[in-house]
Amino acid sequence: MTATVPIRTSEAFQKCLSPSCGATFDVGEVRTSCGDCGGLLDITYDWRRLFVPDSLRWFEAKWSRRNELLARSGVWRFHELLPFAPPEKIVSIGEGQTPLHSTPGVARYVGVGPDNLYLQYEGMNPSGSFKDNGMTAASTHARMVGAKMTACASTGNTSASLAIYAGVSGLFQCVVFVGSGKIAYGKLSQALDYGAKTLQIRGDFDDALARVREVCEQHPIYLCNSVNPFRLEGQKSIMYRVMEGLGWQVPDWIVVPGGNLGNSSSFGKAFQELHQLGLIDRIPRLAIINAAGADTLEVLVNNQSLNWNDGRSDADLIRDFYGTMDAENRRAHTLASAIEINRPVNLVKALRALSVCNGVVRSVSDQEIVDARAQIAAHGFGCEPASGATIAGVRQLREEGIIAASDRVACVLTGHQLKDPDLTVAYHMGDPKRQAEKLHPAGVHSTPFANSPVVVDNDTNAIVKALGL
Ligand code: F0G
Repeated sequence: MTATVPIRTSEAFQKCLSPSCGATFDVGEVRTSCGDCGGLLDITYDWRRLFVPDSLRWFEAKWSRRNELLARSGVWRFHELLPFAPPEKIVSIGEGQTPLHSTPGVARYVGVGPDNLYLQYEGMNPSGSFKDNGMTAASTHARMVGAKMTACASTGNTSASLAIYAGVSGLFQCVVFVGSGKIAYGKLSQALDYGAKTLQIRGDFDDALARVREVCEQHPIYLCNSVNPFRLEGQKSIMYRVMEGLGWQVPDWIVVPGGNLGNSSSFGKAFQELHQLGLIDRIPRLAIINAAGADTLEVLVNNQSLNWNDGRSDADLIRDFYGTMDAENRRAHTLASAIEINRPVNLVKALRALSVCNGVVRSVSDQEIVDARAQIAAHGFGCEPASGATIAGVRQLREEGIIAASDRVACVLTGHQLKDPDLTVAYHMGDPKRQAEKLHPAGVHSTPFANSPVVVDNDTNAIVKALGL
C-alpha cells in the first residue's frame, strides 16, 4: 500500500537509517523502505518541540488513571516516548500489562546470583506474545492513514496479533501469510479463530514475507511486519517496563531471541533515545540469541565481522552471504519455529542496536533451547521454545565469562507456553514415536527435565502404590 495522508505535525517523521541518505518522509506516508535508497526507515522525533518528562518516574503517575485505556496500556502509558499518533487514533486492547519477575530457580540454572535473573513475561499479552506491543502501534498508524486492510507474513505470533487487533477494533479486514507446515498449532488456531484470511504459502517464512511485501506494494493493503517502522516504536515499551520493574534502574544485560530482529532493533533504539534525552545515564549490554539452525546474524557478526560501522555496514558482504545461501538452497531449520528465519529483514537495524548496546550475538542448539525452555517452565514461567533461547544463551555467556554472576540480567520471554503444546508434550511424555517424529530430527536426543506422566490402572490400590504412599 502506498498512500499519503498529510499529518499535521512535524515533530515526528520517518527517516532513512542510512546516514549517507538520511531522506525523510511524512508520518502520513505508508512506507516500509526509503523511497530514495531502499534502506530501512526509523521514526524520528524533534524532541525539542515535544513534552518529555525529566524523569522516567513521571510515568508512574499514570497508573492512578488506569481506568483510562491509554493510561493502562503498557505501551501507551509511555506515549510521550513514541509520540507519532494523536490519542484519538490509538488502537489499543490493553496490551503490555506484562510483569518483570525475579526467578532464583532459573538464576541457579544459568549460574548468576539468585536475585540477578529477571524474566520479562511478554507471553501475558492479549494474544500471548510480545507482538501486541508492536501491533497496537502499527494498527494505530494504519488507522491514521485510513487503511482498510492489514496483512503480514508470520511464523505464527505476528499473525495471531494482527488478527486480534483487526478483530477487536473492527477497523480492518486482515490477511496473514504463513509457511505451510511451519507454524505451531496454538498460533494457527488464533489466526483462524479471530477471523483472519489465512494463506498457507507453499514455502517457509522467508518466502511468505517476500510474497506479502510484493502484494502490499501492488495493492491497497497495509503491511504490519517489522519492516513497518511504526511497529517497532511500540516494541520499545518492553524495555521501559523492564526498567520500571527494576525501579527505573538499567540492568547490565538484556537478552532476547533473534528472528526477524525487530525486537532487538527496537530495544537498541529505545536505549539510544533514552540516553540522548538524559533519562538514563548508561546503556545495558544486549545479547541476541539465534537458533543454530537460523543463525544468519550470528555467522555474519562473529565469523565475518559484519558491523554497523556508523551506518555504512558492508552491503556486499550481506549480499554475498544471501547469494551463497540461495545457491546452496540453505533453509532455516529449528524447533523454535518462531525464529526459523534466515533472512532477517531488520539485520542492519540490529547491527545498530549491537553498536549502541555494546552487544553480542550467540547461537544455541535445539537441545539447549528445549532444555532451557523446560527449566523456565519448571520454575513457573511457561514460554515457547524461541523464548527458551534466551536462557540457553545466558548459560553460554556465563560459561564464556562474558556475563558475570554478579550481573543483573533481564531476559525477554517473547511468547506463551500454550502457543506450542505439541513440543512440550513431546518433551515430557517420553513417547518414543512422538520423540522420533518431533525431537530427533532436530538433534534433540535427551530430555533431562522431562516430567513424564505415570500410567496406572483404574484402581485405587494401584494409584496409591504409584504414589508411593
Ligand atoms: N520470539 C517469538 C515468540 C516470536 O514469535 C518471534 C518472531 C521472535 C521471538 C523473534 O523476534 O523477529 O523481533 O527477532 N516471530 C515473528 C512472527 C517472526 O511472525 O511471529 P524478532
